[in-house]
Amino acid sequence: MEQVVLSNGVKMPMIGFGCYKVSGDGEAVFRQAIEAGYRHFDTAKFYGNEKELGEAIKNRGIPREEFFITTKLWRDELERPQEAIEESLRLLNTDYLDLYLIHWPRPSDLSECWQELDLSAWRAMEEAYTDGRLRAIGVSNFLPHHLMPLFDRAEVRPMVNQLEFHPGYTQEAAVAYSKENGMVVEAWSPLGRARLGKEPLLLELAEKYQVTTAAVCLRFALQCGVVPLPKSSDPVRMKDNMDIFGFSIEESDMYRIRTLPQAGWSGEHPDRETAEKDMRFS
Ligand SMILES: NC(=O)c1ccc[n+]([C@@H]2O[C@H](COP(=O)([O-])OP(=O)(O)OC[C@H]3O[C@@H](n4cnc5c(N)ncnc54)[C@H](OP(=O)(O)O)[C@@H]3O)[C@@H](O)[C@H]2O)c1
Repeated sequence: MEQVVLSNGVKMPMIGFGCYKVSGDGEAVFRQAIEAGYRHFDTAKFYGNEKELGEAIKNRGIPREEFFITTKLWRDELERPQEAIEESLRLLNTDYLDLYLIHWPRPSDLSECWQELDLSAWRAMEEAYTDGRLRAIGVSNFLPHHLMPLFDRAEVRPMVNQLEFHPGYTQEAAVAYSKENGMVVEAWSPLGRARLGKEPLLLELAEKYQVTTAAVCLRFALQCGVVPLPKSSDPVRMKDNMDIFGFSIEESDMYRIRTLPQAGWSGEHPDRETAEKDMRFS
């Protein structure tokens, strides 16, 4: 499995399994994902399945060090990060997390004091990073103006920014700023949550490269240097989604995808109320 090296030297597999809204028996789905070859898992306190993921990993009998586990601090935990980290470690049944992210830059009420909340959560994460409970720390859904105040006062710079990223919603400014500041960008909803299946350009490119539209989306992320985190509850699609290293999208087609008009956006924005009212896409 190809790996990307984070700014602190930690290696992360170039594709991860998205754990949000896996259907049915979570542990069984995660077991199937492990069988399909995934070793990088992206979960969150908000997803409510850290325990199932921890059990699937433990029961499979593969050494813990072979896995890369990410979880996240939810909006209403910004004020109690130490407790939240301990809880995630306990639920995931592990002594350390490979990556821990602040899930959204602002609490649910979009209150004005978000900068202070982010900083105090970050301080707790820096401490857990220093004592080895977190191997890497980062953020999610942080736009440049959310990162700037953190950069001003952080002792340890975030290593990752996880953003909504797929054809039709590539957040070029946030991705460029994150990369310029040494962060690896991860793509959430890399398939646009199946809202892009009928996009004509993707259908055309799927035909041209003799792959699925999902493969075009995932390969697109990889070629943008962004780590995709596809979710599937179907064992066949889980395997298909990993099979994206054997073809490449030509440069002109990459530009056609990058310049696609907005499509498949979740409707989530860190500074908008809708992000609180409509939690379907967290
Ligand atoms: N940081 C954040 O705020 C945030 C927000 C949202 C998501 N995330 C993370 O990103 C992960 C992925 O995002 P997502 O779950 O929103 O969406 P996604 O991975 O873009 O899309 C998942 C959807 O696509 C379908 N699918 C998967 N593989 C397919 C294939 N090969 N062909 C056709 N359909 C396919 C799945 O159905 P089946 O299950 O039936 O295959 C599911 O309906 C999440 O699980 C979570 O870990 C993070």
